[in-house]
Amino acid sequence: MKVLIAGGRGRVGSKVADLLEAKNVEVISGGLADGVDYIEGTRVAEVLTGVDVIVNVLNTGRFDEEGAVRFFEETTRTLTAEGQRAGVTHHILLSIVGVGEGDASDIGYYLGKVAQERAIREGSLPYSIVRSTQFQGYIPVLADQYTVEGKVLAPRDLIQPVELDELVDLLVEVALGDSPVPEVEIAGPERFHLDDLLRGTLAARGDSREVVTVAGNGAIDALVPRGSYRMGEVLYPIRGIPLAT
Ligand SMILES: NC(=O)c1ccc[n+]([C@@H]2O[C@H](COP(=O)([O-])OP(=O)(O)OC[C@H]3O[C@@H](n4cnc5c(N)ncnc54)[C@H](OP(=O)(O)O)[C@@H]3O)[C@@H](O)[C@H]2O)c1
Repeated sequence: MKVLIAGGRGRVGSKVADLLEAKNVEVISGGLADGVDYIEGTRVAEVLTGVDVIVNVLNTGRFDEEGAVRFFEETTRTLTAEGQRAGVTHHILLSIVGVGEGDASDIGYYLGKVAQERAIREGSLPYSIVRSTQFQGYIPVLADQYTVEGKVLAPRDLIQPVELDELVDLLVEVALGDSPVPEVEIAGPERFHLDDLLRGTLAARGDSREVVTVAGNGAIDALVPRGSYRMGEVLYPIRGIPLAT
């Protein structure tokens, strides 16, 4: 089996590549640093030669709706169309739990992920969508996303961050599985309120930004899995933050 990791030198992609290689799977990395560009169409057909499975862990720095939607839609369509031409049998996408719902519904980046999921569903390749909650290590970045004029404006939504290696295990399991999933979710073992989690995380990091609890858009459980999901075992590294009951 040969696996193309679209974004193979990124935070998630490099770990997926390492784990697959440790299992003696042939891996090829396809990202900008490899000279591959799924927006411009550079080296896409070349990098897909002989590939059976695509693990799509691409990412963009565009957090605005227009930029994020364009990036995720175009890259997913390109990988699906070119993948089909190349004889790929399985396209695996990493998405985020709850995108497009409740308080996650009006964040431009999340709308990009909604568009990405739609693009893979509309395409002709068999697919799996692996939806993860926020990575534990990503919580400080989330604080930045909720920051307005120096204050972190956080709704009291539920959030259940997962340790990255546990997600990587799941992605590799899906990649090596006999057939597409087609949808699976993963979350960590602890559920917090977002405002408490950001407050506790920033305090532990010596970040003086004030976290202000604000009213949400409803659906306080948008960022946590609603149905069945794989629960990771690794606890959030900062202890003492109140759990949501
Ligand atoms: N952060 C979270 O809590 C969280 C939770 C759930 C899901 N996710 C999802 O996880 C995914 C991966 O995130 P990450 O943090 O691993 O991202 P990352 O470290 O920024 O890596 C992104 C990769 O995409 C490649 N890339 C970007 N634009 C490209 C283009 N036009 N053509 C080809 N390659 C391109 C980059 O190539 P270079 O390395 O060469 O620049 C890089 O390898 C994202 O889709 C994100 O939505 C994140």
